This record gives sequence, structure tokens and C-alpha cells, in this order.
Amino acid sequence: MNKWTRVKFQPNLPLKESGRVTASKEHILLSKEAAKEGMVLLKNEKNLLPLAEGTRIALFGKGSFDYVKGGGGSGDVMVSYVHNLYDGLKMQEGAVQIYEPLSAFYRTDIQHQYEKGAAPGMTVEPELSPELADGAKAFADVAVVVISRFSGEGWDRSSIECNNEFNPWDTETTMPKISGKIFPDGDFYLTAREKEMLSMVKERFDDIVVVLNIGGIMDLSWVKNDDRISSALLGWQGGMEGGLAMAELLTGKGNPSGKLADTFAADVNDYPSTANFHESFDYVNYTEDIYVGYRYFETLPGAQKKVIYPFGYGLSYTTFGLDTIAMWETENQIFAEVQVTNTGNLAGKEVVQIYFEAPQGLLKKPARQLAAFAKTRLLQPGETQQIRLSFAKADMASYDDLGKIKKSAYILEKGTYKFYIGTSVRDTKESILTMELAENVITKQLTAHLVPTSLKERMLSDGSFEELPQSACNDMNECVFEKMEPGTEEGITPAVRCCARGTLFDNFGRKQFIDVAEGRLSLDDFMAQLSDDDLIHLLGGQPNVGVSNTFGFGNLPDYGVPSIMTADGPAGLRISGECSMNTTAWPCATLLACTWNPALVQQVGQAGAEEVKENNLAVWLTPAVNIHRNPLCGRNFEYYSEDPLIAGKMGAAMVKGIQSQHIAASVKHFAANNKETNRKHSDSRVSERALREIYLKGFEIIVKEAQPWTIMSSYNAINGHRASENRELLEDVLRGEWCFKGMVTTDWWTRAEHYKEIKAGNDVKMGTGFPERVKKAMEMGQLGRPELEHCARRVLELILKID
Ligand code: BGC
Repeated sequence: MNKWTRVKFQPNLPLKESGRVTASKEHILLSKEAAKEGMVLLKNEKNLLPLAEGTRIALFGKGSFDYVKGGGGSGDVMVSYVHNLYDGLKMQEGAVQIYEPLSAFYRTDIQHQYEKGAAPGMTVEPELSPELADGAKAFADVAVVVISRFSGEGWDRSSIECNNEFNPWDTETTMPKISGKIFPDGDFYLTAREKEMLSMVKERFDDIVVVLNIGGIMDLSWVKNDDRISSALLGWQGGMEGGLAMAELLTGKGNPSGKLADTFAADVNDYPSTANFHESFDYVNYTEDIYVGYRYFETLPGAQKKVIYPFGYGLSYTTFGLDTIAMWETENQIFAEVQVTNTGNLAGKEVVQIYFEAPQGLLKKPARQLAAFAKTRLLQPGETQQIRLSFAKADMASYDDLGKIKKSAYILEKGTYKFYIGTSVRDTKESILTMELAENVITKQLTAHLVPTSLKERMLSDGSFEELPQSACNDMNECVFEKMEPGTEEGITPAVRCCARGTLFDNFGRKQFIDVAEGRLSLDDFMAQLSDDDLIHLLGGQPNVGVSNTFGFGNLPDYGVPSIMTADGPAGLRISGECSMNTTAWPCATLLACTWNPALVQQVGQAGAEEVKENNLAVWLTPAVNIHRNPLCGRNFEYYSEDPLIAGKMGAAMVKGIQSQHIAASVKHFAANNKETNRKHSDSRVSERALREIYLKGFEIIVKEAQPWTIMSSYNAINGHRASENRELLEDVLRGEWCFKGMVTTDWWTRAEHYKEIKAGNDVKMGTGFPERVKKAMEMGQLGRPELEHCARRVLELILKID
């Protein structure tokens, strides 16, 4: 196929000679295998799991039918089917016997709720009759209780909503409203009905298994602290085969090897970021600073006991022994050689995790930080694997934003560095190796960027707060002419640009872009012929073509610049329902993070990108790598972890997989987009240190390890500057410090001003640009052709990378 044939002509051709890959058997199988690998066995007393062959079970909870494959919004995927747990168990022919009257009750109830318009997971737990529960008891030995949860883009996990501006979509039945009705105490907790159902089960059964089909953290103290619940499997939102994946693990077809990529506490208020999560629609103060997730729970006095399930935790049906054979340091690196032996009776995989503890020093530090991890291959009983892990000493440095030692530098403070090797942040052994530093070492000198203007204080490792210097605030709505009314940009589609009348046989002397692609013309020469209008045209979204629903980049047909289309992720290629075409729904990102297996995530990225390519699309708006700052964020299911190393490694793997297919990955949402409520205006007020060590770190790892072709800036502001208008973020940090070579797109329909975005180095405004406003800004001397050229060049360079 010639260059750009797919994007230009939209041929109806399968990607492979063997046939179509989109939603192919192979991809759906990979989706199921990935799902199985990220599910986490939380509890297994009495070794109740895997269920013995022929066990008679009763499935309690509407979650046995109301399967949530993933979250809502742009991360949703159209599929031809979704297997719930009941389906999955039925497919394990003869493995278990199910008490059908109970299942019939839930099936019918859920069908009714769906018919009335309820979304999966946003359904009410029906009232269970004692008679039905008695019948279940008479039939079954084991009760399996299923709980499911849903959340989505544009709202957080609460009933709080912000209706400050025009919104073209229906607001009568918003998700926060529905959520408030179904989960009056918040979906972090069991509802009254769920609790009633659970009590009825506990009154009747000695053997209880809990299965969780959720996309984010919820209270699991009722699982951990109740001896009557023997076993629990955290199945996450596992994509279209999630129910089948759970069923296979429950029945012993496979062995769980997922490990938590987040810390589970019992009370949502145990997370320090909850206190001010909803303090304001206009801003969020990140006062907990770098103490996010386990960095908080393992460090702050008294916080450890709040943890129900710690970061890194996950059981297996087998057992493993870990033996650190050696640990040593070289000038710049730390190495460890660890032997893992399967000491149990079933094949399984284990994850080796290394944490470091840096001296508290002047900067103060978390008590533990993940430094490296590796997963074994499938080890047979008795089998041993030796694994080498390593990390750079510089990766243990802290950022000194206030100049306590050296301003704007990454510093390894003098003192003793300790290392802990094990299988969760809690379950570790201290290594005999320590790293001693007699003097402070500056590992990198940077310049202050993105400094807070309105964050008054931040938490330190002992729980006290330190005051932060305040600087001048920025008016994020400042504009040289009248700003568009808030919300009037929402949903605006790109104009279809008129093309001059031509002939089939000549280009009226216009130099053609294919000549650049094929090395006959320089990009400079090509661009020199483009008018300002042509350049401005390149800086906005382009009309949908084919099955795209999120618009495209490029599109100067007179010059042979194709229009390359974008498509959502991350949990699969999202093609709108009206195209009547289904794709593969992969497990949600949080599940993928829990695989702790970047190679597997890379495979998912590659397979997902193949579907993108087969459908003549070119840019996959994936991966989403924001940090799980707080469980209430409605979009956490799309993101990987509370830990930036996990987020970075998983995101980099995904990007490598995607770009191996010459499809552009678009890493999003850059940055500090950790709340959905009023996401287009909310200001994330965060210290420079927390930005660099937590919120930017995952992106930094991805840029350095995988060079994504595009990055999507976020809607929110960071310290008073909208991300897409933030030159320090996009030019100084992303391009300057990290050497990012790709293109930056906005998120879709930001509230930022197009000319300010261009000035900041945000190359394309999506879904549409506003050429007339850019022109006006040029006339007013706010913008010059060189700025247009910088951005347009990066758009063209992106298109050149596409097949
Ligand atoms: C979301 C992005 C998504 C884009 C295109 C936005 O609302 O925040 O994640 O890629 O829409 O659908």
C-alpha cells in the first residue's frame, strides 16, 4: 500500500491477509488474558478459591448480571457483546452449578432497569426476598456476592455537579443526580440494599466469595475485616470479556497474579486529598503535596493503620519464596538480583518490587517510594526464576522547589538510603545494601516553572504544614479581545474548507506534500508556499471522515496534505454506534496497571492500534496517565495508578505498542487533570515539587522512554494558567527539559483562547480551531507567522510519520 492510502481513500480492506483484526477472536482472547492478569486476589482464607469442580454456588447481587466493562464517556467502546460473571461461569462447562432461580431474579430485574434507560453499574440493587435466599442456601454450598460500580468522564463519584455554564447536553438526568439517588452516601460505600443483601447471605452461608467489578477504589473494610467472607477477587472493569475472565480465575482456569496499583483505605476521608476535593468549583488545593497514595499512608504518623489493602498487594493460588541473591551499586545505578521460587502447587506469576527510603533531610520524603519492579514468567510448582532489577540513583532525588538546599534542583540528600525488596509496599525485607552519601548531590539543575500562585501551604512527612510563598495571580480569562461566552465552543464542529476548482491533471504549480514524504522536497520549501490562512487552517481540528467521530489533523487537499483522523481510547477503539461497527473492549487502564506487566500492556497497545489502522484512522487518543490523586475522580478507571513510576512504565509500554503500528499515540491529559467537576475551568493549585515528582513524572517517563508522537494538554488550569495556554508546561518543561519532539493537541473544546494556545506551543486546537480569532490576534500584533509555522510544522511532521 502506498503512503497514506488508508487515510486518504478509506479502503475497506482488512489489515492482515488472514482477515480483519478489529474485534477478531485473537484480540478478544488477548483482552481476556490481559483482564485475567490484572485481577487481584484480595483474600483467600480456607483456600476456598479456586472453586472445586462441581461446587454448587449461588450468585448474589445484581452485579452478577449488571457487568460494567469499563467507564463512561470518551473511554467507552461499542462491542458486539459483553460477558458478565453469570455468562462466564456458564461457559466453564460443569465447573460449577449455579442456583438458577436466584440468577433468574437478577437477570429479569437488570433487564427491566436497562429497558428503563439505566446504564450498567448505575442500577439499583433489588430487594432480595428471604425465601429466595433460603432457596439458594438449600441448593448451594458457596455464595458468590458480586458488587459493581460505574463512573465516567465529566463527573466525579458524588452527587455534586457544576452547572455554571451552557451545556448542549441534557442536564435533567445527569450522572451526579443519578448517582446521588442510587448512592446517597457515595458509591465508595456499599448501599443500604447491598448491605442488606450481604447480611442475608452471611446469615445463611459459611463459605462466601466476594467479586468486585469496579473501576476505582471503594471501601473494602467489610471484606477484609469480616471472617465470614473467605475470599475476594477484585475483577476491576475487565472489558468485554471481564465476566469470563473472572469466571475462569474463580474456577481455577488460571491463577491471579494482579497486584494493587493503588492503596485501599476504608474511608474516603482517609485520603488527605478528600478534604478539599469539593471545596470549590474553581480550584483544588493540592495541600497533601507529594504524599499521594502509599506515599501518604506509609509515611504520615498514624496513617498506616487506615490501610485496608496496601499498594502492591495481591495473592495467588500458589505461594512464592523470594531470595535476594545480591544487591550492589555502581557509580550511577543500583542493581538487585532476586530469585523467585514457586513454593506451592499451582503454576503462577509473582511480582518483585523494590522500594527505597531516602533520608528525611531538609526536604522531607515519603517513607517508601517504588524504585523498580518486575514480574516473573509463569512459574511451575518448584520452578525458580532469577530476575535482575535496576534503577538509576538519580531517580531517588527530590526536587527542591523552595531552595532549602539548591533551588530548582533535583537533589540526593546526604545520609543513608535503604532498600526494601518484596511483594507489596508492606511485605518487604530490608536489603543489606544501603547507599551512603556523605554530601548532598545535585543530580540535575533546572529552572523554576509552573510555580504556585495561590497554594498557601503544603503537608510535610510528619503531618505538619509549611507555608508556601505566594506570587502574582494570573487572570486565566485575559484576552486581547472579547472572549467567547463560556460554553459556546462546546460541541462546535470544524468547518469544511472550500477547495479551489482544479483539474485532475495538474496542481497549478503547488508543491505537493508527498514529495516531502518521499524525500524530493524539504519541509521548509513545502511550507514556504503556504499562506498564513493555510497555516492557521492546520492548527485546528478537521471534519470527520469515515468512521471517525473525534475529528482529524491536516487536510490541505490542494497541497496533498491528507486529513488524518483521531479516535478515542483508552479502553479500545471507540467508533460511534451509528457506524454499526464493533471493536475490542480492553480492560480498563487501572486493571492493566495491576498486571505490573509492561510487556503485556505493550501487546494490548499494539493490538488496539491495529484496529485503529484497519479502520483508516491514524491517531489513538490513548493512553491516559493522570495520577489517581483521590478515589472520587470519576475518570480514574481510565488512568493507571497513584504511583508515577507505574503510570509512566505502563504508559510507555502502551505508546511503544501503538506506535509500532505507525499509529500515533496521544498521551493525555497533560497535566494535573485529577478532577472532572468543572474540569474546563478548575485550577489545580499544586507545588512545583509535587508536579515534578508526582503529576508530571509519569508523562516524563513516557516522553523519555517512548517518544509519543502527540500529547494532549488538559482542560484544567495549573497554578492559574490553563494547561493548553501554558508555555512553561509545553515549551519549557515538555520540549525544553524532556526533549519532546512531537505535536501537542488540546483536549476537545477547551475554554482557552486559540491564539494563546498557539503562543504557548499547543499546536492544534480540537475539536475545531477558530481561524477568524487567530487572524484577529495576528492583526492586533499578538501573533506572528513564525509562531504559526512552529505549530504547523509539528502537525505536518506528525502526518509524515503516519503510514
Ligand atoms: C476527553 C478526551 C477525549 C476527547 C475526544 C474529551 O472530552 O477529555 O479524553 O480524548 O474528548 O473524545
